[in-house]
Amino acid sequence: MQSVKVGVLGLGTVGSGTVNVLSRNLQEITGRAGRDIEITRAAVRDLASKTACDTSNIAVTDNAMDIVNDPEIQIIVELIGGTGIAFELVSKAIENGKHVVTANKALIALHGNELFAKAQEKGVTIAFEAAVAGGIPIIKAMREGLAANRIEWLAGIINGTGNFILTEMRDKERDFSDVLEEAQALGYAEADPTFDVEGIDAAHKLTIMASIAFGIPLQFDKAFTEGISLISQEDVKYAGELGYRIKHLGISKKTDKGIELRVHPTLIPHRRLIANVDGVMNAVLIQADAVGPTLYYGAGAGSDATASAVVADIIDIVRALTTDPENRVPHLAFQPDALTDTPILPISEVVTSYYLRVHTEDKPGVLADITRILAEQGISIEAILQKEPEVAGGIIPVIMLTQEIVEKNMDAAITQIEALQSVNDSVMRIRIESLG
Ligand code: HSE
Repeated sequence: MQSVKVGVLGLGTVGSGTVNVLSRNLQEITGRAGRDIEITRAAVRDLASKTACDTSNIAVTDNAMDIVNDPEIQIIVELIGGTGIAFELVSKAIENGKHVVTANKALIALHGNELFAKAQEKGVTIAFEAAVAGGIPIIKAMREGLAANRIEWLAGIINGTGNFILTEMRDKERDFSDVLEEAQALGYAEADPTFDVEGIDAAHKLTIMASIAFGIPLQFDKAFTEGISLISQEDVKYAGELGYRIKHLGISKKTDKGIELRVHPTLIPHRRLIANVDGVMNAVLIQADAVGPTLYYGAGAGSDATASAVVADIIDIVRALTTDPENRVPHLAFQPDALTDTPILPISEVVTSYYLRVHTEDKPGVLADITRILAEQGISIEAILQKEPEVAGGIIPVIMLTQEIVEKNMDAAITQIEALQSVNDSVMRIRIESLG
């Protein structure tokens, strides 16, 4: 039988890894796929730049569209990233009847609905395991392994850069900006690191996971994102004193009112396994009705780790080449006509408990004012910690953990607390999840 010919668009970190993993494990891969798989063509931006893989058997070009239009190529592997040229190339590949493998989370989160519809029309597959949590096979786990379950919620550490920063801040008492510079130097961060620290990268990945978990169309525009750039050393320390760790979590939950889709710093009890996922590692915790909680842990980025997911997708496509398109695993786990329009809940309607840190003047009655405002909004305090001022008459931090309350009431309370004369700066609010 003829080999399956693959064209790779982009030979950067993941592209080189894909070439390397495929050639290193060729025997196992061929045995699993049942066919020889050959990367015959690859596209790079600059033909003069060096690649981290052997391209001696690959025809390399700087014209990616040429590969997409090559009738010999059956599978296009898009590893360029972004939603510009990558969107054009993937759309054209589908139009040309080619299967697509991509690691491009933004492309799927923003244009997946349209691309999947096009792919279905053409009877081709778009595989995107590498777009979420790098090498962790989380798409496959949810779409196939958990297919018998009703998924209740999922929570993930799905940005390695953010997790590295928070881990260093906690373990080495380093400042946010200092650690971010190191993460950039180590090559973990996105080209625009605000995508990492402001939660946009995680929201792309969460949007994809939520669709697969709950059978809803991709709705990145409705995801709530809050970054970690305002997390200070003192919050990391107080959270620790209260038995919590701060993690940048992507959370999606199905509630009676709708689906929560939110990325924000979160306090998690330190004893939870996921609270101990440190450095650049990723993890996703899924609560499902039949199996209960399952936790998936591994490398969320990196050359070979992400290539592991890319190559697995290529193998899946090769195995299914002869199957009727109607009988393949659906892109978003549910058949396209079984997707529901369950609404995404606005963050103001989300119910959680909170960590609050207020800097106040050390005066009689301040605490009474704060607790009165909270009580008026129906917010019950679970724990309170007040520190002595560093200098007599100085500013004191008051830290409170609250019981669950709907976010709009907490917003109202925070506005009123910040308006108090004795309160010096913005109230720091971090949502708490017990993940129990
Ligand atoms: N910048 C991403 C991260 C890379 O830090 O996790 C993988 O998507």
